[in-house]
Amino acid sequence: MSVLGVIGGTGLNRIDGVTIAETRALSTPWGLPSAPAQRLVWSNGECWFLPRHGEGHTIAPHRINYRANIHALAMLGVTDVLSVAAVGGIDPANRPGDLALPEDLIDYTWGRAHTFADGVEAPLRHVEFAPPFDARWRRRVLSAAGEAGVTLDDRAILGVTQGPRLETAAEIRRLARDGCTLVGMTSMPEAALAVEAGLAYSILAVVVNPAAGTVDGSIHAAIEASLDAGMVQVRRLLDRLVAVHG
Ligand code: HPA
Repeated sequence: MSVLGVIGGTGLNRIDGVTIAETRALSTPWGLPSAPAQRLVWSNGECWFLPRHGEGHTIAPHRINYRANIHALAMLGVTDVLSVAAVGGIDPANRPGDLALPEDLIDYTWGRAHTFADGVEAPLRHVEFAPPFDARWRRRVLSAAGEAGVTLDDRAILGVTQGPRLETAAEIRRLARDGCTLVGMTSMPEAALAVEAGLAYSILAVVVNPAAGTVDGSIHAAIEASLDAGMVQVRRLLDRLVAVHG
């Protein structure tokens, strides 16, 4: 049986209009997750939901306990994780309000507890990470998006930066030279931990601003202007995904 887990990012600290059937405050060998997990019930399906930054969006990207979050979802029996993440668009084709299902990523983060399997707390393992996202799960998400009338850029390459500050223009030019088309702060080590935990994982990236230096104007103003529109699309896709999942 497959069980859907949704990790919510900026703009998705909770999912409204569905029943919270159960709330589970779990403690894991890696510490506490960002929040209690909620089992959400739609009329035609259900999923587990965990807000990555906490219920009040207070946990910075580098302070999130990614290991506890992924372990908690595995404890709940989740098999397929859709991880929603607000991102900046580096490629001008990725405009605010657009959605993407990245096909690859580059990790620029540092100093985060990034493995379950470092040979100290658990036996050393070198998991394969090319591609980083489960192909079968991505196809299912893409097909649900098609049915929901939601367009996803499935060729995007996501650069994951440390934050919490936004990037300099020169950093974004470097990411562009590296091949990144999107930039976010939270998909690593989350994605790699999901692979170590044996979960199918993919990222639903919501473009909320043009990346630093790619256009004039305030990034925060761009985020404010586009976050809600992006989340309406996320919700359309989630409604469909929940209905066809399982
Ligand atoms: N950079 C990094 N992370 C982000 C951005 C950005 O421009 N927008 C939303 N998350």
